[in-house]
Amino acid sequence: MARFRNTPVLELRELAVVYKSRGQPPLQAVKKVSLSVRRGRSLGIVGESGCGKTSLARAITGIIRAHSGSLLFEGGDVSRLDTHGRRLYRRKVQMIFQDASGSLNPRMTARQTLAEVFTVHRLCSQDQIGQSVEELLERVALPLKLLDAYPREMSGGQCQRVSIARCLALQPELIIADEPVSALDVSVQARILNLLRVLQLELHLTMIMISHDLAVVRHVCDEVAVMHNGELVESGPTVSVLERPHHSYTRKLLAAVPDVNRALNARSGQL
Ligand SMILES: Nc1ncnc2c1ncn2[C@@H]1O[C@H](COP(=O)(O)OP(=O)(O)OP(=O)(O)O)[C@@H](O)[C@H]1O
Ligand SMILES: [Mg+2]
Repeated sequence: MARFRNTPVLELRELAVVYKSRGQPPLQAVKKVSLSVRRGRSLGIVGESGCGKTSLARAITGIIRAHSGSLLFEGGDVSRLDTHGRRLYRRKVQMIFQDASGSLNPRMTARQTLAEVFTVHRLCSQDQIGQSVEELLERVALPLKLLDAYPREMSGGQCQRVSIARCLALQPELIIADEPVSALDVSVQARILNLLRVLQLELHLTMIMISHDLAVVRHVCDEVAVMHNGELVESGPTVSVLERPHHSYTRKLLAAVPDVNRALNARSGQL
């Protein structure tokens, strides 16, 4: 742990993502993005639809390959990891998605979904799984009576709690949440965001939160990075970027929220 104290958990150096489809010119979805996130901090990534937020997240998790640039995790180059290191990396970096119910297996109850993680990754002995599953459910504040519920029997917020629990089972270092509340009602959004914030602080997790909603980022994130057309145009502490933006695109993004400070304060109040 001491070795990593001053090293960012994640560091991107000029990371680029290019999609190549037959008969189409290559699409540069992420263009030389450099950023770093320190342990226990939360970074918001904002920007309009199609600017490359999800592509960046997928490149970090390894779902897609970066075209160029480097990705350092706890100081080590991820592209140089051996098979064991890669497996560990995939465990330490977890993603939470917008469509929580879609990311759960419809044929599995909450108990089965969570037990499967413990079994597949051999995280505890078979006779401890039941207790570990119950502890996880408590962590995400879900009533035990939902253990035997299927995704279709749960609300969007409850499904998101199960996916958060599934991700916590793996004891991640870094959680990347891609629009985790945008499909939920505002009152449910607030509770899920508060849960993520509490978990992040209690477990000293590092978090990247992708969101269209500036109020969400303001509520949850210590720092914010603004993306535009695949590029990172501005980053810094959330309060200073949102209150004293330097880049014209950040100002445009803020101007899209009418009476920005009042609107952000009102939304943050709800959140
Ligand atoms: N699998 C893919 N193949 C080809 N192009 C893709 C693929 N996925 C995304 N793109 C394109 O890459 C660009 C960035 O998309 P991406 O999904 O990363 O944006 P985003 O910022 O997450 O958008 P949103 O806010 O709508 O989720 C867009 O032009 C998109 O059409
Ligand atoms: Mg996206």
